[in-house]
This record gives sequence, C-alpha cells and structure tokens, in this order.
Amino acid sequence: MKHLLGTKGMTREDAIRILDTAAQMAATQDREIRKLPTLRGKTVVNLFFEDSTRTRISFEAAAKRLSADVINFSAKGSSVSKGESLKDTALTLQAMGADAVVVRHWASGAAYQLAHGGWLHGSVLNAGDGTHEHPTQALLDAYTMRKHLMGDDGARTDGKGLDGLRVAIVGDVLHSRVARSNMHLLTTLGASVALVAPPTLLPVGMDSWPVEVFHGLDDALDARPVDAVMMLRVQRERMTGGGAAFFPSPAEYTRMFGLDSARMARLAEHGIVMHPGPMNRGLEISAEAADSPRSVIVEQVANGVAVRMAALYLLLAGEEQA
Ligand code: CP
Repeated sequence: MKHLLGTKGMTREDAIRILDTAAQMAATQDREIRKLPTLRGKTVVNLFFEDSTRTRISFEAAAKRLSADVINFSAKGSSVSKGESLKDTALTLQAMGADAVVVRHWASGAAYQLAHGGWLHGSVLNAGDGTHEHPTQALLDAYTMRKHLMGDDGARTDGKGLDGLRVAIVGDVLHSRVARSNMHLLTTLGASVALVAPPTLLPVGMDSWPVEVFHGLDDALDARPVDAVMMLRVQRERMTGGGAAFFPSPAEYTRMFGLDSARMARLAEHGIVMHPGPMNRGLEISAEAADSPRSVIVEQVANGVAVRMAALYLLLAGEEQA
C-alpha cells in the first residue's frame, strides 16, 4: 500500500492489517512507551485546506510518537491565499523532502489528485476530501467498534472483522465523507449498515449502496437491534445559503433524527453511541446521550492516534520491515 485515499475498494485483509497494527500501537502506548523510533528521519507534512481539530492533532501526535519530523501547513496564512495551486503547493512540499503528506481539502478528489498527479514521490493520506472520503475516521470507528463489541482486547491476528454487527448511521449523509467511508469499510468488515436520514439529506444515485435506508430514527430502532449508532454532524456550512436551505427545520430534525436518552435506551443492551465530532449538541445529539456511559465519543478521538500511527507505519515503514 503506497497511499491511503479511501475505504472504497480496500480489501478486508488490508483493513484488518491496519486494525491489528493499531492494536499493537495502542499496546505500546498503554505500556507507556510513548515514542517508537520507527519513522526517525522521515518527514510527515500535515497539509490542511479545511479546519480540523481531531484529525490534524492526532496525525501530528501519531507521527511524533513514531519519531517522524512533522511540518504543519495550514492554507490560512500560506501562499494558497495568494492563489497558489495544489500542484505548486505539492511541488514545494516535494522540494522540502516530504515522505508523507496528510491532506484535508474541500474538493472531493483532491487527495487522489495529489497522489496521482506526479508531483510527489511520497505517500498521501486522505484526511478528508470534500464530501467524498475520510478513511482514517472510518478505520478508527471500526477499531472502536471492534474493541467494544467484538471483544478485541489487544493485538489480534484471527482475522476478525465486525461480522454480524448492525450499525445505524444517522443524519446528514449527503454531506458526510465519514458516512461514505464508514459504509464501505463496515460492509467490507461484515457489518450491516442502516442509513437514517431525511430524503433531502441523502445523496442521489445511492441505489446500489449495500445499505438499508430509513427516514426516521425510530423506524430503524424498531426494525432490528442496533449495536452502534453513529450520529453525523449536520453540516450547515455545506448547505446553500449557509443553512438557509436546511430542511427539515432544526426542531423537526431533532424530533425525527436526534438521539436522546429515550432513543438511546432502545439500542441493543451493549449498544454504543458514536459521533465523529465536532458535535452540534442539542441538534443531532442531546448532552445526556453524548455524555452517557454508552458514549464512546471521547474514546474515538483517543483511538484515532493509534489508528493513524498504524497507517503511517504501514505506508512509510511497513515495506522496509517486511
Ligand atoms: N472527525 C473529524 O474529522 O474531526 P475534525 O474535523 O476536528 O478533524
């Protein structure tokens, strides 16, 4: 594997290798081995054209825990604001000797363009491109589910995925790269996926997706037990007119799709509550649900470091170590 651009087309074997490696990385962190020498001498560039808290910080932490040098590049305050293109930005990074570029961009396909434009020699890791893919988020979500719901207490080598789990992904699917990456990865790993959204927040052309679709959260909870409910952020900034086109209204949305204590109590007995963050508390999720013992939202963030360590390790050192 040279790049990590998406989960669409990722084999089960590759996905499980990343999850197993993440478990091994987490085990080193649990043993308080804070820094591994694996990527000493390598340079990782975080190239962010869109805002981020969790992804940027955890990629930085992951690279540093593997002893890589890290350069953080934010489009704000750079020559991008003077009109510099993605190509010229990439050529500048190549000149600085980047071994890996972690890119977040508002344009769907930007990570692919960076990887295959012939501008960079190193690896490209997609940290979210438009409404397309956010593969490391889906991997950290799968890792969290495997740990909580499949009894994964360490580095496992039994090829176990998420077979038999039922996961409900709820909300603004239309604008969500997290939903797309999760849908591909979860089905590859053997889980079944229910998408729960108003018709206005579902993409056209999703008839071929291997999912069930519901237009109300109660309907999805009635149908079969839900092992994990993944609440999506309503991305008002991606809606025409900065939210003016948000339909249904926020109050109606919360009534039909919001996760509150009553709906949370209807999950499977062991069911968990997930959210990729950042959350709109009071819109897609109540504070009680977000902060409840069933919530693994903070743990998702922590698991992101181990998963991103695994991704960087496998792309930058995996071949050398094999
Ligand atoms: N989940 C996620 O991508 O969060 P950030 O936008 O804070 O990176």
